[in-house]
Amino acid sequence: MHEQLNHVKHPLIQHKLTLMRDKNTPSAVFRQLLREIAHLLTYEVLRDLPTTTKEIETPLEKMDAPILAGKKLVLVSILRAGNGLLEGMLDLVPSARVGFIGLYRDHETLKPVQYYLKLPEAMSERYCVVVDPMLATGNSVIAAIDQLKENGARNIRFVCLLAAPEGIKALTAAHPDVDIVTGAVDSHLNENGYIVPGLGDAGDRMFGTK
Ligand code: URA
Repeated sequence: MHEQLNHVKHPLIQHKLTLMRDKNTPSAVFRQLLREIAHLLTYEVLRDLPTTTKEIETPLEKMDAPILAGKKLVLVSILRAGNGLLEGMLDLVPSARVGFIGLYRDHETLKPVQYYLKLPEAMSERYCVVVDPMLATGNSVIAAIDQLKENGARNIRFVCLLAAPEGIKALTAAHPDVDIVTGAVDSHLNENGYIVPGLGDAGDRMFGTK
């Protein structure tokens, strides 16, 4: 087991993920389940967020109460499926900054090509959480993290719903400083790069496209 990998085995995640894997689950339910699992994964990935204290007055007395410290964290969604996890994370951290990275796979080279990038300022000072439901080959997330590091990001985590062993191996080799939080580790990738048993194409399942 990689030290960088946190496989969250909470029964609620496993139950909801089973419903998501079922090919008969409609898009609206699929999106809602993804949002709910995002809440549970957010709890895990933000466990070590730094806190400070602030003096407040309860109805009974003054106290130094804990609050989040430092610059607002940034959630970076890899388009388009990342947006499903993003929504749930924003439920819990509504003041987070949000970045987007769009990547497509070049048919000839099979390498990810970036077509969109929008990030907040001061990336080097922010705790950065990259989100994409599926860690398959790892090519997109590796390219996304390369880009974030070029923009100064240093403290980076990655959250996904499902990971393939191939993707975990590739990501941990390329970015050994990036911790991974996942809801499941599946068997393998098929010849088309799909996770098996998986849940199909996460973007298509979320948005009803094919
Ligand atoms: N992306 C998906 O949406 N599904 C997979 O199985 C692999 C990559």
